[in-house]
Amino acid sequence: MLEVSNLMVFYENALALNDFSMKVEQGNIIAIIGSNSAGKTTLMNTLSGLILDTKIKEQRKGGERITLYGTIRFESEDITNVQPYDRVKRGMVLCRERHPIFPESDLVENLKIAGYLQKSSEVSAGVDYVFRLFPTLVRLKSRKAGFLSGGEQQMLTIGMALMVKPKMLLLDEPLLGLSPLMQNTLVDAIKKIRAETGLTIVITEQFARPILPMIDHGYIIENGMLTMEGSGIELMDNPEVKAAYFGV
Ligand SMILES: Nc1ncnc2c1ncn2[C@@H]1O[C@H](COP(=O)(O)OP(=O)(O)OP(=O)(O)O)[C@@H](O)[C@H]1O
Ligand SMILES: [Mg+2]
Repeated sequence: MLEVSNLMVFYENALALNDFSMKVEQGNIIAIIGSNSAGKTTLMNTLSGLILDTKIKEQRKGGERITLYGTIRFESEDITNVQPYDRVKRGMVLCRERHPIFPESDLVENLKIAGYLQKSSEVSAGVDYVFRLFPTLVRLKSRKAGFLSGGEQQMLTIGMALMVKPKMLLLDEPLLGLSPLMQNTLVDAIKKIRAETGLTIVITEQFARPILPMIDHGYIIENGMLTMEGSGIELMDNPEVKAAYFGV
């Protein structure tokens, strides 16, 4: 479904992604594991196309030069130069690291805003689905999103992404800063989404332990370079992965 070949991303002369390739089959959950500044967000922004926007903005203000090499194919089409909104239309949706919400709007309004391209019947079905997935959100539906806790906001942002009816969901560090309990809630929800909708999911994380059990395949990156790949079980059994990415 997604084929990334020899991706290189430079910020000025600094190499953030170095010859990175990966493949994602439909319906799979794929993880990209890497520590701070490994290149996870750069990869997600490149997959979603946001980096094209950043590149243009930087050019306009005479800022740093961002250079991209390599190709991204989605559903057999080359989307390397396709604009981010067009990638969303094709079904690729990114939940950014600390994804922005509309803090002054309440939770349901946020979901509806996210679903603005859908028909109204689909919007209400979408909202219902999000509440079934995250029952905790039901009693918070009228709360201003800015007053939700970190975990509740993360549930909301995943809900907002689902409102777009994606074919492929990109999650950039969805467990960041959450308690182990909340991490489990999110991992269970991600498994449920895949089981119920067959959605293809690519997820980045710094800590591998909570997510390796649910993934089909994982890639370890260090300094923008692929250092290891394998099934969830292979990576879980690997002593180097355990030492570096299992946390304390
Ligand atoms: N806009 C930018 N300009 C210059 N360098 C950048 C820019 N964005 C990222 N970098 C650099 O690229 C490298 C990869 O950063 P990136 O944010 O992709 O890592 P990450 O794996 O998401 O890290 P984190 O776990 O902290 O979120 C880092 O060395 C970072 O400093
Ligand atoms: Mg990041």
